[in-house]
Amino acid sequence: MTAETARERQYLLATPTHFTVAYAINPWMDATEPVDTARAIEQWQGLVTALTDRGHRVHVLDPEPGLPDMVYAANGAFSVGGVVFGAKFRYPQRAAEAAAHEKWYRERGWRFVAPAEVNEGEGDFAYVPGPGLALAGYGFRTEPRAHAEAAEALKRPVISLKLVDERFYHLDTALTVLDDDTIAYYPQAFSAASQEILRRLFPTAVIADEADALAFGLNLVSDDKHVFINAEATGMADKLAARGYEPVVVDLSELKKGGGSVKCCIAELRD
Ligand code: ARG
Repeated sequence: MTAETARERQYLLATPTHFTVAYAINPWMDATEPVDTARAIEQWQGLVTALTDRGHRVHVLDPEPGLPDMVYAANGAFSVGGVVFGAKFRYPQRAAEAAAHEKWYRERGWRFVAPAEVNEGEGDFAYVPGPGLALAGYGFRTEPRAHAEAAEALKRPVISLKLVDERFYHLDTALTVLDDDTIAYYPQAFSAASQEILRRLFPTAVIADEADALAFGLNLVSDDKHVFINAEATGMADKLAARGYEPVVVDLSELKKGGGSVKCCIAELRD
């Protein structure tokens, strides 16, 4: 299957007003390297424009001082069918972000399920609409027990996948959903058993290589037609174009210093 028509989506993002690299909780972060926050904000605005220009609705969560990673809004929750499974962060530096997300959803009438186990929202959960299942990563951040909790909260099967390369510490750095039944992923980021599971479930997946993954080429957001992708990921953009998708290139070089790109900045709201 190739790219279809775009479906209007609703996304939640957070302005990188307070973005910096103040600590290192993934291999991409180097607290001694300077960060240009003004440039990060400009680049992020480019992402918002790219989304709204293609007809999507962007909601903005108020950024909070002292939470420099809050721009990575994907980590705050995982919503499917109007139900929101909340996040519980692995590291104390990000713990307070969960409450900000929870408040946002509750104020807007979403059914919110608070988690008991550590999980970093859409960073480690991806929804595949066709089969109606969720793919979930573990190994670095999210606890596998949170996968079962999510299945119970969202009433969807959850397939656990083990991440084994610390550079790809969240599922969304190694795998992305392109449309109802198509995914793209970098096999070597997963254990041999998880690779076998992915091969069986998604025989027509787009396969990324190490260079694609290192350029954050899998950390993209697709609306079934457009794929919003990091500017550096030229090889991945070509592969997706060859499969009929329309790459929309966004430069997020400053935010890469925190270990994230397009997908990390976006939580999809599935009502
Ligand atoms: N610095 C953040 C962290 O390590 C980056 C989060 C990236 N988010 C994502 N969805 N992969 O937690």
